[in-house]
Amino acid sequence: MSTAQSSVSASSSTSRSTSSPRVAVVGATGAVGQEFLDVLAQRNFPMSEVRLLASARSAGKSVEFAGKTHTIRELTEESFKGIDLALFSAGGSISKKFAPIASQAGATVVDNSSAFRMTPGIPLVVPEVNPGDLKGIELGKGGIVANPNCSTIIALVAVTPLHRAAGVKRMVVSTYQAASGAGYAAMMELEQQSHEVLRGQAPTCKIFKQQYAFNLFSHNSSMLENGYNEEEMKLVKETHKMWGDATVKIAATCVRVPVMRAHAESITLTLGKALGEDEAREILAKAPGVSIIDDRAHNRFPTPIDASGKDDVYVGRIRQDISQDDGRGLSLFVCGDQLRKGAALNAVQIAELLLK
Ligand code: A2P
Repeated sequence: MSTAQSSVSASSSTSRSTSSPRVAVVGATGAVGQEFLDVLAQRNFPMSEVRLLASARSAGKSVEFAGKTHTIRELTEESFKGIDLALFSAGGSISKKFAPIASQAGATVVDNSSAFRMTPGIPLVVPEVNPGDLKGIELGKGGIVANPNCSTIIALVAVTPLHRAAGVKRMVVSTYQAASGAGYAAMMELEQQSHEVLRGQAPTCKIFKQQYAFNLFSHNSSMLENGYNEEEMKLVKETHKMWGDATVKIAATCVRVPVMRAHAESITLTLGKALGEDEAREILAKAPGVSIIDDRAHNRFPTPIDASGKDDVYVGRIRQDISQDDGRGLSLFVCGDQLRKGAALNAVQIAELLLK
């Protein structure tokens, strides 16, 4: 378990504050939950209180955060009294049950699960893409904001500036997704399997049903009737919702690769008008949350290791798509930290937009 360090003062005040909210972290022992704590501390997020919540299994455990030892409490229906902001990452079923309870108690929920992403009226937000969709949401006044799927966030931080410049008509994405997206236990299983396979032993397969170390496989989410899995369809539907345009043609192939915590994505676009690769590079160089690694001379492009533990989405292989000969095709390769921009950082950035 990682340790978050910074100075956050505790207060026993009971009045609501939107400049120094009282914060609950639901799923505080999980991979994203731990990253919430790191990101809150590193960004000096102003908090007058923090309440760390997880299952009964973890209740009573100690976690170092903000220079203090905090005790994990069991998540119950009473957990949100006096809370202004609740960051959820404990899975969809927990969000479905407890996010409305938290909202009812006056906490504004930023939910990392898929439970409410497609619910009409619930904003689905990436601050670099559609911050205006947070209109009407106020800290301490209830309401739910959904954090998009990690692959969607990472793709759209890179593609939205190009969409604004030249109008994306079609987007084809292939992902190379890390273990962290399946939670802390999956990361541990990848590590364990790596040791086992190197020792010539059979890999332990509890989280995934097949060997993960030194292998890759189609994303482990449910397969749907159209032959796409849920992860792939999230990329389609969430992009449509955030761009406010369901006419953009999108198809994805999502794959798990034996990487610990950063996703990579190959993205090919068809644009509404021609856009040269130099112009695309200039647009991306100015885009918030984007860093470029695109050194053809040294064959140096973004890797998951470059992105791990970092806030930005790294973009490279920026090139004209030679299979589209009208100058409207563009290809990119992007990498982003699944736990940070793909989850915890994006949620905290949403919360920062709500601070007054
Ligand atoms: P716990 O560690 O007590 O099981 P990850 O995404 O890394 O798998 O983490 C899942 C997070 O969701 C953990 O913090 C986990 O807590 C939490 N969680 C799982 N089930 C529950 C539950 N029934 N009530 C509250 N938190 C839960």
